[in-house]
Amino acid sequence: MYDGQVARVGFIGLGVMGRPMALNLVRAGARLLVWNRTPARCEPLRAAGAEVAAGPGEVFARAGTVILMLADETAVDSVLGRGTPDFAERVTARTVVHMGTTSPEFSRALEADVRAAGGRYVEAPVSGSRGPAEAGRLVAMLAGDEEAVAAVRPLLGSVCHEAFVCGTVPDALLMKLSVNLFLITLATGLTEAFHFAGRQGLDRRRFLEILDAGPMASGVSRTKGAKLLAGDFGVQAAARDVLKNNRLIAEAARKADLASPLLDVCHALFDETVALGHGDADMVAVLHAIEARTDGER
Ligand SMILES: NC(=O)c1ccc[n+]([C@@H]2O[C@H](COP(=O)([O-])OP(=O)(O)OC[C@H]3O[C@@H](n4cnc5c(N)ncnc54)[C@H](OP(=O)(O)O)[C@@H]3O)[C@@H](O)[C@H]2O)c1
Repeated sequence: MYDGQVARVGFIGLGVMGRPMALNLVRAGARLLVWNRTPARCEPLRAAGAEVAAGPGEVFARAGTVILMLADETAVDSVLGRGTPDFAERVTARTVVHMGTTSPEFSRALEADVRAAGGRYVEAPVSGSRGPAEAGRLVAMLAGDEEAVAAVRPLLGSVCHEAFVCGTVPDALLMKLSVNLFLITLATGLTEAFHFAGRQGLDRRRFLEILDAGPMASGVSRTKGAKLLAGDFGVQAAARDVLKNNRLIAEAARKADLASPLLDVCHALFDETVALGHGDADMVAVLHAIEARTDGER
């Protein structure tokens, strides 16, 4: 079954990130077989020419390489049937490409389980949110055995504009957490500055224009600044997901006895953002937590 079907690629997880990534793969000519827990999310892929599987088992049965772009560890375990006899059946002689963000320990243990069952494993987390995913301009970090990484790399060409090999598992995820530490503190800093300018009675548009004209301008400052100005909290990266990333970074820092003072403040603010009911909003909704502190609600 496997030998004749190496060219078919499986893709599981068609959320904010997975959907545009899978669409880019199909548009680039990949023979894609997709599955998503909520079936309606498969329809845009079907319309674009992908096949839709009835369940995750069918994806593994019919595809040699399966990309997972799933929310978290529970979701990954669930689609792999981890801890059940389905697991070996699904991953033997398959390449599992784990592109979501989970703890490095989870990924290391998963790699060991996949290898023990006779499968291959590539860790491939990405940097960039919905916009870069739609534009096929994510940045991938790759880890795993050299042969598997080399085999998977060309597949990601329509999804990522750069892919960096980071060594063995879980170094790609540790790299991703390092990148996210900068992103989280950067976006939170921008939001706090925007709040400061606004509450000082300054013209917030002018504030952003000044930022844009100077050396601190970046894709993040432009995208998130525009969202803050428009009061647009539509999701590019959900606050709940950023809270998860905060937690993963904090746990990795504690394990390695590292101080992470800025991240720790952001962690508290994202906790507050989600507690205030903004978990499904974009990460710039951290503005609400900062406003609540200013207004004495916390
Ligand atoms: N958004 C970003 O900016 C960004 C950037 C880089 C990396 N990431 C990471 O990429 C991953 C996906 O992010 P996203 O923004 O695409 O998340 P999302 O929109 O919440 O999508 C999550 C996907 O996981 C599926 N899922 C969740 N629980 C499941 C379960 N128990 N069983 C089966 N499927 C399950 C969801 O299925 P349903 O459709 O049925 O809910 C959906 O397809 C996350 O690990 C995130 O941290 C996100």
